[in-house]
Amino acid sequence: MTVPLGSMPAAAITFRQGAGLGIELIRLGETGPGLVRVDIKATGVCHSDLHIVDGDWPTDRPLVLGHEASGVVAEIGAGVRDVQVGDHVVLSWFAPCGRCVTCASGQAWLCSGTTAIDNTLPDGSTGFTDDDGLEVWPYLGLGTFTDSVLVPESAVIVVSDELPFEVGALLGCSVTTGVGAVVNTASVPVGSVAVVIGCGGVGLSIIMGLKLVGANPIIAVDLSAEKLAIAEELGATVVLRGDEVDVPAHLQEHYGGADFAFEAIGRIATIESLPSMLSAGGSAVLVGMTPVGARASIDPFDLADQGKSILGCNYGSSVAKRDIPRLADLYLAGLLPLDKLIGLVRPLSDASSALDELRAGVGLRSILVPAGREEELQVARPTG
Ligand SMILES: NC(=O)c1ccc[n+]([C@@H]2O[C@H](COP(=O)([O-])OP(=O)(O)OC[C@H]3O[C@@H](n4cnc5c(N)ncnc54)[C@H](O)[C@@H]3O)[C@@H](O)[C@H]2O)c1
Ligand SMILES: [Zn+2]
Ligand SMILES: [Zn+2]
Repeated sequence: MTVPLGSMPAAAITFRQGAGLGIELIRLGETGPGLVRVDIKATGVCHSDLHIVDGDWPTDRPLVLGHEASGVVAEIGAGVRDVQVGDHVVLSWFAPCGRCVTCASGQAWLCSGTTAIDNTLPDGSTGFTDDDGLEVWPYLGLGTFTDSVLVPESAVIVVSDELPFEVGALLGCSVTTGVGAVVNTASVPVGSVAVVIGCGGVGLSIIMGLKLVGANPIIAVDLSAEKLAIAEELGATVVLRGDEVDVPAHLQEHYGGADFAFEAIGRIATIESLPSMLSAGGSAVLVGMTPVGARASIDPFDLADQGKSILGCNYGSSVAKRDIPRLADLYLAGLLPLDKLIGLVRPLSDASSALDELRAGVGLRSILVPAGREEELQVARPTG
């Protein structure tokens, strides 16, 4: 790709195989047909960024990391109809093609035509070049750990101007995934016994979703007292330290097993223990993502005999254009206290420390802010 004249270089957090994490200057291409240029205002640090950095999901392409973000539309390309310059938006990391059979049947989260998972724009281009004019790929078709991005129109979800950018960022991944796991993937009925293992940004969002639908009890499991305290604030009625309690035995003894068990870590040993946490007819929901190629062992006789199910959950089985504005409205109506998920709001240059803390399980969701944009945020938070 040739570098367009006048494109100012901007700092970006990149990952290159061999070199690892870095901060480098990148340039943005032109806002071509069907594309939207979005100025990033806030971007969350999700464990799915860490999976790349830690080599769980190997990539030989240099990437601009980041996929959980909000911003403001700066420019629209030819043919863009549903988005205007100045709109406040949340970015969806699973931009559906809108043309395949799964899109046509309303299952945008299973779109077979998306190029997001190839880390490209729909035409196969990347939108970013480095200082030498070589392509850098946008992680999940977004690459939000920088100032501005080029994304397809279907990745751009318009939300209310009243929505704080930090909260909007979380709607891009963790919240839509977690709440969606409850209401879309598992369709949890009121009064269900539910357990959530792993209370990071995704697990805490599952807990909020469970409270919203009236699950009871809501049992939260983590290794961190800090995470469990927030889990309780957000609706968990029972909190358990996973390293101190035999969780399957506890659930069977006290509740006869859980109707729903959500895994939000991506840890094989936890996934293997899910069926033993369930009551007859119960469902395990796999939300956490394991390293690629990992295998888990289950007892198929128990699953068949007891009518237990294992459900896979990609992006909370969400249709971003339907679900993200709904979740934003629930927040604005005071029904989803999403600001409680936010930990440190910090400069983009802090990405490496934020990823280290995520790996160590320390702190709540970090929000990164491009240089000079701190004053545009709407929720007053401590900066780190
Ligand atoms: N399915 C999807 O579409 C989707 C979307 C987003 C994220 N994810 C995945 O969900 C997972 C969670 O993401 P996150 O951003 O919330 O991560 P996170 O690191 O913030 O949360 C993980 C939590 O698990 C806890 N934990 C770790 N080991 C544990 C153990 N042995 N027992 C109990 N708790 C333990 C940690 O303390 C932490 O609170 C990741 O694998 C991520 O890639 C999946
Ligand atoms: Zn994510
Ligand atoms: Zn599609």
